[in-house]
Amino acid sequence: MATGREIDVLSEHFAAAPATFTTSPLYRALCPVVAGDRSTLELLTGRRPGQQASYLFFGAAHYLLLAGVAHPLRDFYPSLVGSSAAEPADAGPVLRDFCRRYRTELGELVRTRLVQTNVVRRAVALRYALWAIGQRCADPVHLVEVGSSAGIHLHVDRYRYLLGDRVFGPADATVSLDSRWLGRTPPPDLDDVPLIASRTGVDLNPVDVTDERARRWLRALVWPENQDAATLLHAALDAVATEPPAVVAGDAVRVCRDLGRGLPPGEPRVVFHAATRMHVPADRRVAFDRAIDSIGDGGPLYHVWQEPPSAPHGGHAADPRGELAMHGPDGVVVPLLRVDGHLRWLGPLDPAD
Ligand SMILES: C[S@@+](CC[C@H](N)C(=O)[O-])C[C@H]1O[C@@H](n2cnc3c(N)ncnc32)[C@H](O)[C@@H]1O
Repeated sequence: MATGREIDVLSEHFAAAPATFTTSPLYRALCPVVAGDRSTLELLTGRRPGQQASYLFFGAAHYLLLAGVAHPLRDFYPSLVGSSAAEPADAGPVLRDFCRRYRTELGELVRTRLVQTNVVRRAVALRYALWAIGQRCADPVHLVEVGSSAGIHLHVDRYRYLLGDRVFGPADATVSLDSRWLGRTPPPDLDDVPLIASRTGVDLNPVDVTDERARRWLRALVWPENQDAATLLHAALDAVATEPPAVVAGDAVRVCRDLGRGLPPGEPRVVFHAATRMHVPADRRVAFDRAIDSIGDGGPLYHVWQEPPSAPHGGHAADPRGELAMHGPDGVVVPLLRVDGHLRWLGPLDPAD
């Protein structure tokens, strides 16, 4: 039974959540509706520990609509009806009705699913970090992504990157990522990156990219207005499906030590995580950081992260604007870039550069 305090915390979360849905007028309009809907908030108390409630809830509703549920709520989703979508401001009562009618289905999804949004453009953050690592280390690296979801970023060396007026990556890539470069000077040479000697993901729930329902869940987590991100997601999932990377199933806290031991001793390893530490329950984050550090027991560790300011790497005061940061074997944190959460843009830390 949910406590009044739990419901209050969830209500406050939804009341504050419009600020995070920067590119979704629909979700911004619906957040206050959920904040005031006690019955839906009660459903959300059944979610798995650490899962961000608004991403999970909107993902669940979108999933049902994408699966073909016939309800007038679908008329508000550009992902379903394109540019004829109805005004977000009118969606509140329709959402409340949807939640009443599909309470069982929504409850099942929020209890069992995880926020696994695989944001393809975040590969450019990893690509930049690999360039920075290449400036410090000439050897091939073993790449580990913690919280890899479908494993899209593990193919970081197989995509084409359009950044400012420069292009990087193989010319025959089937996936092209475009991000805005905010620097006054051009980005560095992102073709100058270390070779990837091996690639391994770690996830609580590795996503089978050939499973239609698993793909639909990933699509549902893309906000309904972001059709370009959805198109990119489909292209990347198809690319990953041709050669799915190995992903170890389990909690990073439990599996990282053994994974590190399995890598060739003395060889450099890069651990990357994006939007993952933020979903680790607060009381597990120190253990999460230690588990990642343990991968460095067998060889030089380069640890790269892109997490929101609410969940920075332990002990590091994150830049509130959002950043990509790393540390090498000496443990000294090096902020690398300012980044948009979905990597629609990235740029030097100093806007004058
Ligand atoms: C929001 S998704 C981000 C996926 C990917 N890193 C990206 O940026 O596109 C977070 C992923 O982390 C995984 N995850 C969360 N906590 C984890 C943990 N303790 N150990 C392993 N994976 C975890 C989730 O299952 C999910 O796939």
